[in-house]
Amino acid sequence: MTKTIQSLRGMKDIVNDESKLFTYFIENASKIAQKYGFSYIETPLLEETALFRRSVGESSDIVNKEMYQFIDKGQNDVCLRPEGTAGVVRHFVEKKLDRAGGTYKWYYFGPMFRYERPQKGRLREFHQFGCEVFGIDNVYEDANIIMLIKDILDFFEINFTLKLNSLGCNDCMPKYKENLVKELTSFKEELCEDCTRRILTNPIRVLDCKNEKCQSLLKNSPKITDNLCNSCNNDFEKLKEILSFNNISYEIDSNLVRGLDYYNKTAFEFISTEIGAQSAIAGGGRYDRLVEYLGGRSTAGIGFAIGIERLLELIVKKEEKDDSIYIGVLDENSLNSAFKLVNKKRKECKTYFDYNPRAFAKHFANAEKQGCNIVALIGENELKNNQVFVKNIETKEEKNINIEEF
Ligand code: HAM
Repeated sequence: MTKTIQSLRGMKDIVNDESKLFTYFIENASKIAQKYGFSYIETPLLEETALFRRSVGESSDIVNKEMYQFIDKGQNDVCLRPEGTAGVVRHFVEKKLDRAGGTYKWYYFGPMFRYERPQKGRLREFHQFGCEVFGIDNVYEDANIIMLIKDILDFFEINFTLKLNSLGCNDCMPKYKENLVKELTSFKEELCEDCTRRILTNPIRVLDCKNEKCQSLLKNSPKITDNLCNSCNNDFEKLKEILSFNNISYEIDSNLVRGLDYYNKTAFEFISTEIGAQSAIAGGGRYDRLVEYLGGRSTAGIGFAIGIERLLELIVKKEEKDDSIYIGVLDENSLNSAFKLVNKKRKECKTYFDYNPRAFAKHFANAEKQGCNIVALIGENELKNNQVFVKNIETKEEKNINIEEF
């Protein structure tokens, strides 16, 4: 027998109840983002590998180990996008919007690819809903982005913890890193293999190592939040003040460094305690140097992405009153008239049509299975009187109605 083909490890179909939730999420998250002034952008799934090397960063796990990278038939080094920010920034620079000035706000959703070790909540193809803002160097925008995520999570009634950090700027971060490297080097031998390597490549990544031994060694090491320059410190204090003033609770986590190298100043993650070890449902922050890294003129940037699969685990779809109609026939001769009625009704509401002639009771059962509350049936008698038999399954009310009036 021919071997059947399965979807690849860490990749899956989204169908049935999950696909209903998926579209429900996209529709409503998009509406909320639009209210905040974002418009939709779609960028290609495939980009030049250099884009991610220069943005997500050479020292990140994503670029080091997780890229779906290959040489295409034209000998171009390309890669399936592991995240959405880089493509949007590429667009911004490519269209010379950095030179035009002004502010730009885009939202997007779609698949991302990371060759990670699959486990619950961690896929190799997963979906993100993200937003990116360009040209606003004001800490109120940081608060705005956090409120937007909160509005989305509140809409779906999702509980979360907001973790907040500041990663400083070109003034304070290098000095902090230098001190951290000194500290880390003093107990280098005791750190895990990954962290020993990170001391040289990206020392702040040691801070969020999951290894318990590393974490205990780090207890007394310097914190970035105690080593911010005046400007970063003022912004961080202001952000905390705005959040508190708007009743948004947060926890400061000075070990939150994020897995992508492009962040500066504000960095945040939204965590859920209800979905297991892969608990980050959204993450983001400021990336004021990224436009420059990609060859553009210095432009402030900030954004976030929500992991859709992780979120879907937490969403219970609010029961919407189903106004869909079921139309069926009692005999073969009524099919033409019923078909015409279906086409008229579909312009008004969701209409399910059953082609097979059946008895009343069978139609009622079928309609319930399809989730339709209103059942309209046509047979010989109804046709004769130019009528349709209509039953409301919920209220059990039934009557004959003139076809044109139905
Ligand atoms: P990220 O933290 O790498 O950030 O991903 C954002 C969210 O995507 C995570 O919080 C998580 O919910 C989800 N996610 C990440 N990896 C996986 C996976 N393997 N399986 C399932 N879900 C996953 C970014 O990607 C940044 N581009 C966010 C951003 C936008 N920062 C600024 N603008």
